[in-house]
Amino acid sequence: MIQIIRTKDYEEMSRKAANIIAAQITLKKNSVLGLATGSTPVGLYRCLVEGYNKGDLDFSQVRSVNLDEYQGLSREHDQSYFYFMNDNLFKHVNIDTAETYLPDGTNMDAEGECSRYHEVIASMGGVDLQLLGIGNNGHIGFNEPDDYFPENTHCVRLTDSTIQANARFFASEAEVPRYAYTMGIGEIMAARRILILASGKAKAPIIKEMLTGPVRPQVPASILRFHKKVTLVADEEALSLL
Ligand code: F6R
Repeated sequence: MIQIIRTKDYEEMSRKAANIIAAQITLKKNSVLGLATGSTPVGLYRCLVEGYNKGDLDFSQVRSVNLDEYQGLSREHDQSYFYFMNDNLFKHVNIDTAETYLPDGTNMDAEGECSRYHEVIASMGGVDLQLLGIGNNGHIGFNEPDDYFPENTHCVRLTDSTIQANARFFASEAEVPRYAYTMGIGEIMAARRILILASGKAKAPIIKEMLTGPVRPQVPASILRFHKKVTLVADEEALSLL
């Protein structure tokens, strides 16, 4: 069952979602957060930084695991997800960065890196709240449409649609990495609670498909309907086809 919180726009989506994460870390100081990158959560991270600056939030005992990372990008590359997390959240709050984890994009040994990251996730004792965005094609993390649901962290070849969608962040489409490491669907579904965000018209068709179409690996996000505790915070545009 997916609980839906409808907001009028991106700003309200960001504030409402931030309130949910704020409640999580207030109620459980040593929460394990599963974190996401992309355009969608930028406003949410801004709200969390504001909450921290006001003295309302304490991240000192929070640990985090991110969903994914591009293969081949260094931590200094401004499009790496490592860079994104520091830039948007970690460097602005009192989180212990030794306890923030992402796949290591510079490790080109895909099999080794994926099993290492799977162990990292397993060692956290379960993710309390997993934050997700959704790709235009229904991907969560970088679990692209496929004919099965991948269970654990794996290396994926990004689809042309994802490469095109992400080209806006790079100088040219040719510079978008072709491979990424991502948590698997099984690891995502193991989180105790899932918070998925969607904003804007471009997401409306896939949100409709996720909520009303058949649950199938060709629409990876549809599997969330089989999770016990999922909250979708979405703005009017993203919900406009329902
Ligand atoms: C990011 C991630 C992706 C994005 C998705 C939506 O860590 O795992 O699944 O959530 O591609 O991206 P935006 O928010 O840029 O539309």
